[in-house]
Amino acid sequence: MKKLGILLSGRGSNFEAIARNVQAGKIPAEIALVISNKPEALGLARAKDMGLQTLCIPSKGKEREAFDREVVAALKEYRVDLVCLAGFMRILSPYFVREFPRRILNIHPALLPAFPGENAQRQAMDYGVKFTGCTVHLVNEGVDTGPIICQAVVPVQDDDTEQTLAARILKEEHRIYSEAICLLLDDKVRIEGRRVLRK
Ligand code: GRF
Repeated sequence: MKKLGILLSGRGSNFEAIARNVQAGKIPAEIALVISNKPEALGLARAKDMGLQTLCIPSKGKEREAFDREVVAALKEYRVDLVCLAGFMRILSPYFVREFPRRILNIHPALLPAFPGENAQRQAMDYGVKFTGCTVHLVNEGVDTGPIICQAVVPVQDDDTEQTLAARILKEEHRIYSEAICLLLDDKVRIEGRRVLRK
């Protein structure tokens, strides 16, 4: 059984969606470890409630790579095969990325390469796009720049607020994150440069 490591910093709804699919047998893996860099993260409490192995590794005041070394050590200790960033509000150091080549996933609430970085839903609204969405991608050394595995399109409505738009996108995030995990775990894709293609 492949082992997932989840990294989160907050609410953890993407983590919960993944955990539900793991429990339902829809993802061929187990969650070996959930790590938060924030002690107060709701997702961390939910993971504990679910009886999962959790770890809080505070990032505050730590140099980026020093923190990453602690996280990588924990992921290796639990023999994690695939790292899933689920609202993990930290940029990974090149060291971290190199330790898990092509084995780190992230979810972003926009259709990359549009609107990378923070507040992607607000960026999309402010720009005036009629469609936005979400993207699951492999993590490379850039910010939201790795090869794209899955995307879903979400319409922007005239009366949307940042919150209503974010909620519509989140529903799709919960669906495509598990889909992307399955594609990788089932070995259904090959990577050619930036392109992730079906085998
Ligand atoms: C999601 O919108 C995700 O795309 C972004 O951060 C948010 C995390 O939400 N990376 P949650 O903690 O999974 O509920």
